[in-house]
Amino acid sequence: MAHVDFTVLAAERLVLRRFRPADLPAFAAYRSDPEVARYQTWSAPYPLDAAERMFADLSTLHPDTPGEWYQFAVALHGSEELIGDCGVHVRADDPRQAEIGFTFAPSSQGRGYASEAVRRLLDYLFLERGKHRVTAACDDRNVRSAALLRRVGMRREGLTVESVWSKGEWTNDELYAVLEREWLDLQQG
Ligand SMILES: CC(C)(COP(=O)(O)OP(=O)(O)OC[C@H]1O[C@@H](n2cnc3c(N)ncnc32)[C@H](O)[C@@H]1OP(=O)(O)O)[C@@H](O)C(=O)NCCC(=O)NCCS
Repeated sequence: MAHVDFTVLAAERLVLRRFRPADLPAFAAYRSDPEVARYQTWSAPYPLDAAERMFADLSTLHPDTPGEWYQFAVALHGSEELIGDCGVHVRADDPRQAEIGFTFAPSSQGRGYASEAVRRLLDYLFLERGKHRVTAACDDRNVRSAALLRRVGMRREGLTVESVWSKGEWTNDELYAVLEREWLDLQQG
C-alpha cells in the first residue's frame, strides 16, 4: 500500500505521526537514558546516526507493512516536541496479527500519555486496519510497561522463562494480547 494514505492519528491530547528530521535529536536523547534503554533491545547511548537510519528506513514505509517495524512519533497537539514513540510490527506470515512497542521520554512519563498513545494505536490497528489480534511482550522486571499493558486492557497470556538473551543475561518475557472483539467490547463497556 502506498504511504500517502497515512497522515496522522489524533488522540485527545496527542498525535501519532510520521517522524520528521527535527525529531531525531530528542529521539536519540531519550533512548540514551539508561533507565529508558534498560529493558529495550538497544544499549545507551543511542547514537544520532542510528536515529537517522531509522528515519530513512521509515520515510517510504506504510505503518501496515507485513514484516516491518514502523515507528510512530508522538507529540502533544500544537507542539512540535517529540515526547515518545510507538512501534508496530505486522507479522509477515499473518498480516492480521501485529505486535506493538512504546517508549516515552522520562519527562513525559507519569502523565498517561503513553497509555493514550497505545489506545489510539490499538484503535487504528483494529478499526482502521482490520487486525484480529495485537500482542506485546516485555521483560518481567519492566513493571511500568506491564502496568501500561494491563491499563489499556491487554490480557497477560503467559511468561516465557529465560527466553531472551539480553545485555549479557537470560531474561523472562511477559506476553500480552488483545483480540479485536475484546477491544470492541472494552470500548463499549
Ligand atoms: C513503559 C512506559 C511507556 C510507561 O510510561 P507511563 O508514563 O508510566 O505510562 P502511562 O502513560 O500509562 O502513565 C501512567 C501514569 O500516569 C499517571 N497519570 C497522570 N496523569 C494522568 C492522566 N491524565 N491520565 C492517565 N494517567 C495519568 C497515572 O496515574 C500513572 O502513574 P503511576 O505510574 O504513578 O501509576 C515508560 O515507562 C517507558 O517509556 N519506559 C521505557 C521504555 C520501555 O521499557 N518500553 C516498554 C518496552 S516493552
